[in-house]
Amino acid sequence: TTPLRLGIAGLGTVGVGVVKIVRQKANLLAERTGRPVVITAVSARSRDKDRGVNLSDYAWEDDPVALAKRDDVDVFVELMGGHDGPAKDATEAALAAGKDVVTANKAMLAHFGQELAIAAEDAGRVIRFEAAVAGGIPVIKALTEGLAGNQVSRVMGVMNGTCNYILTRMQDSGLPYEDVFQEASDLGYLEADPNLDVGGIDAGHKLALLSSIAFGTQVNFDGVELEGIQRISIEDIHQAAELGYKIKLLGVAQMTGRGLEQRMSPCLVPEDSPLGQLKGGTNMVVIEGDAVEQIVLRGPGAGEGPTASAVMGDVCDIARGFRLATFGAPAQGLQKAKVAQSNSP
Ligand code: NDP
Ligand code: HSE
Repeated sequence: TTPLRLGIAGLGTVGVGVVKIVRQKANLLAERTGRPVVITAVSARSRDKDRGVNLSDYAWEDDPVALAKRDDVDVFVELMGGHDGPAKDATEAALAAGKDVVTANKAMLAHFGQELAIAAEDAGRVIRFEAAVAGGIPVIKALTEGLAGNQVSRVMGVMNGTCNYILTRMQDSGLPYEDVFQEASDLGYLEADPNLDVGGIDAGHKLALLSSIAFGTQVNFDGVELEGIQRISIEDIHQAAELGYKIKLLGVAQMTGRGLEQRMSPCLVPEDSPLGQLKGGTNMVVIEGDAVEQIVLRGPGAGEGPTASAVMGDVCDIARGFRLATFGAPAQGLQKAKVAQSNSP
């Protein structure tokens, strides 16, 4: 049987997690997909860094674009990050060279998802991005496949583990925002640009991607009303607790009579509700559809293992020959949604 050959660009937290799964679970992956899944080439900024995994079997490329175009690569796995620059250049190069793409890059897709999805369709290739939203939770698979028979009315949830950690820790420790922010930074939780996390931008990217799939519209990150958690004080947390509530950075996307409403902002949730009970880096996504009524998905929103798990789910689908459109429907047919501005404070 023909192996599926991966070229991995980015050997950080997620990339190393993917290498480990491919190396340690070769037999399982071959049994599940019916063919060997192998890595042929890798790329990162520094060739000399010790990454704790054996990379000596793989060809090395300094340039991710060169990696994306290699003849011995079937699937370009983009795990570098950055909403444009090398990640976008290499993704475009991979599609143009006839490769499928798997990425965890929510920022790139929130900004350029529509154009990349059309490039993929024009090239007869697929882009898969399960890892980009809610880490290890297979929420994109749930929406595109399991819930395909539903008219979805609402998607909501906690989609940034770092913000959930900060808010939970403030509540549990009584420490002010600044101290807990520093703790999160020391623990390595924050994105290179922390404003992506605490400004609600990263969670907004994820919400915009889920909206596109749920409502069959073009990704519209600019249409997300955003408010971060930077101004949440310990007094706010205490006041909420006195009333029986917790503060969560909550995303809500719903189709209203006025158009598509997408909002990511700190909200009060009852402390004994599933959202109120959500601790640490955990994510939760709630989906409401006319047939299914409501489902709740909960799990780790980040980290090496959970994120690599989602990447490998996409890789295995491609190995099995499953060729799902990027946003679950042909991108050429996706319309721009009319944007409803919410009236909430
Ligand atoms: P890291 O910062 O840990 O790793 C990034 C990797 O990309 C590094 O190996 C780096 O090389 C490499 N890289 C960066 N720029 C270039 C370049 N120009 N050319 C070649 N290689 C480059 O990131 P993560 O693994 O955390 O994240 C990767 C992606 O996954 C991002 O899009 C992120 O948003 C997404 N993601 C991450 C999650 C997580 O929990 N970490 C969860 C969900 C999604 P070097 O190591 O040499 O510096
Ligand atoms: N910074 C993100 C988070 C990583 O904290 O959820 C996972 O997307």
